[in-house]
Amino acid sequence: MNNTRKFPEGFLWGAATSAHQVEGGMCNDWSEWERETAKSLAQNAKSKKWARHIMEKYPSPLEKENYISAQAVDHYNRYEEDFDLAKSLGHTAHRFSVEWSRIEPKEGEFNKKEIEHYRAVIQALRTRGMEPLVTLWHWTIPLWLRDKGGVNAKKFSYYFARFAGKMAEEYKNDVTYWITLNEPNVHTGHAYGQGTWPPHKRSPFSYMYAVGALLHAHRDAFNTIKRSCPKAQIGIAKNNIYFEAYKGRMVNNILKYMADWWWNKYFLDRIQDYQHFIGLNHYFHNRINYGFNKNENKNISDMGWELYPESLYRVLMDLKKYKKPIFVTENGLADARDIMRTEFIRSSLHSVLRAIDSGVDVRGYLYWSLLDNFEWDKGFWPRFGLIEIDYKTLKRTVRQSAWEYKKIIDEYKI
Ligand code: BGC
Repeated sequence: MNNTRKFPEGFLWGAATSAHQVEGGMCNDWSEWERETAKSLAQNAKSKKWARHIMEKYPSPLEKENYISAQAVDHYNRYEEDFDLAKSLGHTAHRFSVEWSRIEPKEGEFNKKEIEHYRAVIQALRTRGMEPLVTLWHWTIPLWLRDKGGVNAKKFSYYFARFAGKMAEEYKNDVTYWITLNEPNVHTGHAYGQGTWPPHKRSPFSYMYAVGALLHAHRDAFNTIKRSCPKAQIGIAKNNIYFEAYKGRMVNNILKYMADWWWNKYFLDRIQDYQHFIGLNHYFHNRINYGFNKNENKNISDMGWELYPESLYRVLMDLKKYKKPIFVTENGLADARDIMRTEFIRSSLHSVLRAIDSGVDVRGYLYWSLLDNFEWDKGFWPRFGLIEIDYKTLKRTVRQSAWEYKKIIDEYKI
């Protein structure tokens, strides 16, 4: 990176988590699903080839425990310790989610104790000088709503907006940045497109219905939050992919156009008047060469995902046309040995700086994730954390890359 360049004043530096992946003690659609599927997920893992560095850590992909979130990393009880670490790592912001199933465990009944819990979490960030970015829905559904059909329940947007309104009412004095939905396209794709995540409904009709339901839910939540909290800044966290038309060939360009339209733009276009900022979650480059995913894969993470930090610049440039502030609300990699993370963060931030220089209004970068955590249907084995978790003792150990990230923050912060 060019040493003379600084990031804009007030740029937010930090990391992100989500409730289900770190808190532990969940009772929602996912925790139920894990109990039902853990055995078969562990069984299926036997047919894959696993690297030694993954197998030697606990829990390994072949163990049933890997697929059950259970106590996760006990962040519910240890958030103060975790935020102390984040502060010592130079973070000035943190993105986390409030768990709907804790706050509204029964339809229409809000749990005071849990509301106070998250108030304390927000306060813990504030007292450490860290800006909270609050996600309202990071994929998990309370059981009462799951039983009505989850995202595809008749009145989903009404229920979600009611929950969002309650949160805004409670935390309006302490929270500015609200992220209503995390990656609506990823959720609908897995849950209804491929049918690999709860509720396991593979059907084009359910898929399209769910996309529409989440659009409504966001717009209704936007209006409700705005009513209680006029100063609120509201957006979604959108997973965008850099689709590259290899060598500009016509077929590749046509496929790129279609993929961009559906995956990257469709949702954002439809909520243009209902967002103050764009949250960008970015992980993937997809090179199109008479078919998708013809990547070179020179560098890959533990999950086999290509590491291609240049793509962050490309997707940021594509978002410029929306003329909104952008926060990178997720960007990261699974790297148990911590041998690629420093370089990945460094070059990703280089991409951010290039985009800023080209006129994109990027206001923050939140690495995924602060802590190793429960990676949905993959379980615990993928290690995304700046902080390593020993899943036997729950001991936290700061990875070297987290210190390197701190150096970058110190160097580039105004
Ligand atoms: C999700 C996170 C997930 C991360 C890594 C994002 O799509 O928001 O919950 O852990 O990717 O897969």
